Amino acid sequence: MSESPIIQELETIRDAGLSALTNLNIEEELQAWRTTHLGRSAPVMLVFQKLGKLSAEERPLVGQAANQVKVALETAFNERFAAIKEKALAQAVASEKLDVTLPGRPIVHGRLHPDTQILRELYRIFGEMGFQVYRSREVETDEYNFQLLNFAIGHPARDMQDTYFVEAGERGDNPIVMRTHTSPGQVHAMQEASATNPLNPPPVRIVLPGMCYRYEQTDARHETQFDQIEGLAVGPGITFTNLKGTLSDLARRLFGQQVRTRFRASFFPFTEPSAEFDVECFLCGGKGCAVCGGGWLEIGGCGMVHPNVLRNGGYDPEHYSGFAFGLGPQRIAMLRYGINDIRYFWENDLRFLEQF
Ligand code: PHE
Repeated sequence: MSESPIIQELETIRDAGLSALTNLNIEEELQAWRTTHLGRSAPVMLVFQKLGKLSAEERPLVGQAANQVKVALETAFNERFAAIKEKALAQAVASEKLDVTLPGRPIVHGRLHPDTQILRELYRIFGEMGFQVYRSREVETDEYNFQLLNFAIGHPARDMQDTYFVEAGERGDNPIVMRTHTSPGQVHAMQEASATNPLNPPPVRIVLPGMCYRYEQTDARHETQFDQIEGLAVGPGITFTNLKGTLSDLARRLFGQQVRTRFRASFFPFTEPSAEFDVECFLCGGKGCAVCGGGWLEIGGCGMVHPNVLRNGGYDPEHYSGFAFGLGPQRIAMLRYGINDIRYFWENDLRFLEQF
């Protein structure tokens, strides 16, 4: 049977379309194929547009044939499309390499910084001894950081505390400084307490924790930023024995009943007499190491509050006396945990922090 040329053309269109489809494996190519072979100007669509020009007998035959070609192309497209999708899914699952027998990843727990842990322990111990926690400013005036603590302007003892100045210039003899120690809090606390009853000021028993800053050559024992915990007890009849008892008891509570401690005569302008308080170094067992030097680690200075300082705080030294101490919580943490360099504290190295 001789077919009309237009029917033959439709067969060619179908075969070309189907054979172009067999090589396609990705979705973008498939969409492009659809535009070419089934889009508005695709060859099979152009045949539909020509139907009007055909004779009445030819029109239904060609129309039917064109429709079959279109359906054949659509069916082939849908099958191919589904096959590609299925393959892509299978690949995604395979590439996940999900192994349900592997152990789970451990959850990392946060923890308290060793310095915070020691501070909390110190608050607890001092709390049991009857001391209140008191806060005082980190940025001070020269007057409070030095002058009211009996360091005269130009006093050589200022050299012990190399100072960061926040603002000098116009303030003359009273520049703003980063506090070099927590001792200025002694004067603030006494002034506040004595203001409540100037003729008969109440006793004071406080600890003052906080950051201090010194322009210091850093080494295993010294940092430019460190914290201190200041202690102050003022009242009638307070003696050096009370000071020794308090600090020795603190050391026993921190390090155990057997711990050896010693007081060494020293000098601070704001205490008289003054002492350093040492604890035997556990790091080297008292033999001497980079942290302690000679087998003892100084954990703070202390002494009896100087009469001038009592007076500056509003307390009459004829009727009141007091003791004060300034401890280094980081030094205590070093002894407690066997940390051999103070610079680890603020380096934020997880290998260090995760040990506590
Ligand atoms: N403020 C002194 C220092 O930082 C320590 C100290 C405090 C000494 C209280 C005596 C009394 O070196």
